This record gives sequence, structure tokens and C-alpha cells, in this order.
Amino acid sequence: MSESKTVGVGIVGVGGIAVSHMAALRATDVARLVAVTDLDRARAGEVARQEGVIAAADVAALLADPAVEAVIVCTPNLTHEQLGRQVLAAGRHLLMEKPLAMTGEGARALAREAASRGLQLAVGHSHRFSDQSLAIREAIDAGAIGTPRFVRIAMNGGWIWPGWQHWVLDPALSGGHSLHNGIHLVDLAGWWIGEEATSVFSAGQHATSEALRIHDYLVIKLGFASGASAICEVSRGERPRSASYLELVVVGTDGVLAREWDAEGVLAWTDDGLTAWGVDGPGGRVFRRELESFAAAIRGTGAVVPPVEAAVHAVDLAVASEESLATGRTIRIGAAR
Ligand SMILES: NC(=O)c1ccc[n+]([C@@H]2O[C@H](COP(=O)([O-])OP(=O)(O)OC[C@H]3O[C@@H](n4cnc5c(N)ncnc54)[C@H](O)[C@@H]3O)[C@@H](O)[C@H]2O)c1
Repeated sequence: MSESKTVGVGIVGVGGIAVSHMAALRATDVARLVAVTDLDRARAGEVARQEGVIAAADVAALLADPAVEAVIVCTPNLTHEQLGRQVLAAGRHLLMEKPLAMTGEGARALAREAASRGLQLAVGHSHRFSDQSLAIREAIDAGAIGTPRFVRIAMNGGWIWPGWQHWVLDPALSGGHSLHNGIHLVDLAGWWIGEEATSVFSAGQHATSEALRIHDYLVIKLGFASGASAICEVSRGERPRSASYLELVVVGTDGVLAREWDAEGVLAWTDDGLTAWGVDGPGGRVFRRELESFAAAIRGTGAVVPPVEAAVHAVDLAVASEESLATGRTIRIGAAR
């Protein structure tokens, strides 16, 4: 296997989000794309031609390529556990798109497998790498608002899926909206509050159509052992479809951090007055930062972000959220069900 400084990367599944990963690979010199594969061979061939890389016939062929040192898996959620096992068994570092797996047991099994083989396992919680998310974490670390006590995250917008047959709309393939998009929000909330959630209560709607089998509108309430709490609201059912609304609020013992709708930056209200944490630059930096962090972990100069335990915990929360939607009950995390 290549031991050069540049990490050779293979991508499994070259659909929508792979485009962002490929752009990140072009934008950095810490890693380079060497091969792709997809069940849709015509698509893999087309992408390979565009990128000037090899189109492997299948995952096994991609993993047989010694230039592939690490793999990014960008396939539907149901496939993650099996593909993750295959990649790790072949001795390759893995950046798995979120969710790590569809069940807590599956996520833990992948984490154990990576650890036992000494491989890096990162999960694509890309929102951790946005300018505003990093600014909020930096402000908390700087002590700007004391201890975080409650968090409100709204990531709302209109319908984004290409059609009614899309796999995300099938809970058997995506795990439901909690595992698909809700998982980004619960991960951010726990990261900012600084502890693992202990309870989950969710409410949802089939806003676009009663025929939907996932909740395109979803609110997840998290409780924490310290008494802190978080409200995570995610919607893809609003009109107009081009609507896009992002609001982030972290209230601490000594101040408030807020990224208001359409704001350019994060604002901090404290006893010292109002301060702004700048957030500028294109969203494309998110995937480049994620990739560079993964490459640094592979080269031993950094730790994976998020830590794999946090990615496993996020799966537990998202699964609990779907259980809460189905039962109308608050689900305790870690408690016997
Ligand atoms: N981090 C983010 O912000 C973000 C955003 C969107 C999607 N995602 C995640 O990325 C993953 C892919 O989502 P997408 O929107 O790109 O889906 P997509 O449907 O656009 O693309 C998936 C691709 O995987 C291929 N595929 C399916 N099964 C395969 C298999 N077993 N082997 C090889 N190829 C296979 C399909 O043919 C398709 O080309 C999902 O896990 C999703 O949750 C993450």
C-alpha cells in the first residue's frame, strides 16, 4: 500500500454527496482520488473519466487496488454497515457518510472493528466543519458564555429529494428522517453542550403529503444528565421549496451565542456586550476540512472528528428519535428498553 504523504482515496457510490467529496479532493493536496465504484457502472465510468481515475468494477476490485489507502463510502444508509465491514476487513481507513450505521449495535461493531485493526474511522458529520459551527465551539471553548445550558437548532427548508421513489423516503433504506438529517442536529447539540444526551422525545409531521413514510418535518428534544436540554428542528417540507432557514442558539450561564437567519456571523451576547465571531467563505470548505481532518488522523497528526464514540452515540439518539415518533414516548438512552 502507498506510504506517500498524500492519502490515496477510493469512493464507493458516486451519487449526490460524492460530488462534494470529489470537489474537496481536488481542492487539497493531502489526499487524492484514485478510484471510484458504483452499482451504476455507467455513472462510475463517467465520473472516472471526468476525474481521470480508475472505475473499479465493484467494491472488491476497488479494495484490491494498492493505491487505495482510504475509502469514502457515499451509498444509501442501509448499505453502510456491510460496506464498512468490507472496507475495514481489507485494511483500509474509512470515512463513512452519516449515519455510521442504521442501528447502535451495527455502529458499535464497526467502531470495534476499526479499533481492533488500528484503522481510522471517521463519520461524515459535516456540519461540525461549517464556519458557524466551528465559531460556536470556539466561543464556548473561549469561555464566552460560561456553561452551555440550552441549545436550539433549526435547519428548515423545502423538499430536496429528486422524486417520490428516492431511497431516503423509504425508512427501510434511510432509517427515517431522524437517521438521515436529524442525526446532524443531535450531534451538533451534544458537541456544543459538551455531554451525551440521556433522553429523546420527538414529534413529526408528514408535511408535504400524508403518503410520506418519513417525517419531513421533525422536532427532536434532547435531555442531558446535567439538566441541560436541546431542541433540534429539521424540515424539508416547507414552501416555497427554495426556502432555506438556519438558526443556531446556544444559551450559557453567562451569555448567548446566536447565528440568526441569514446572518453573516455568530453573535455573542455577554456581560461585556456584543461580540461577533466572523464566518465567511464558501460552504465548499466544509468537505475540505472534513477530508483534511481525516487525512491528518491517518497520518497520525490529529484525531478523527467527531470521535467515533460521538458518531455511535448520534446513531443511538437518532434510533431513539424514530422510536419516540412511533410510540409517542420519551426514550431513555442507555436504559433497558
Ligand atoms: N454529510 C452530508 O451533509 C450528506 C448529505 C447528503 C447525503 N449524505 C449521505 O451520503 C450518502 C449517499 O447519499 P446521496 O444523497 O449521495 O445518495 P445518492 O442516491 O445520490 O447516491 C448513492 C450512490 O450510491 C450507489 N450505490 C448504492 N448502493 C451501492 C453499493 N452497494 N455499492 C456501490 N454503489 C452503490 C448508487 O448507485 C448511487 O450512485 C448517504 O449515506 C447519505 O446519508 C450526507
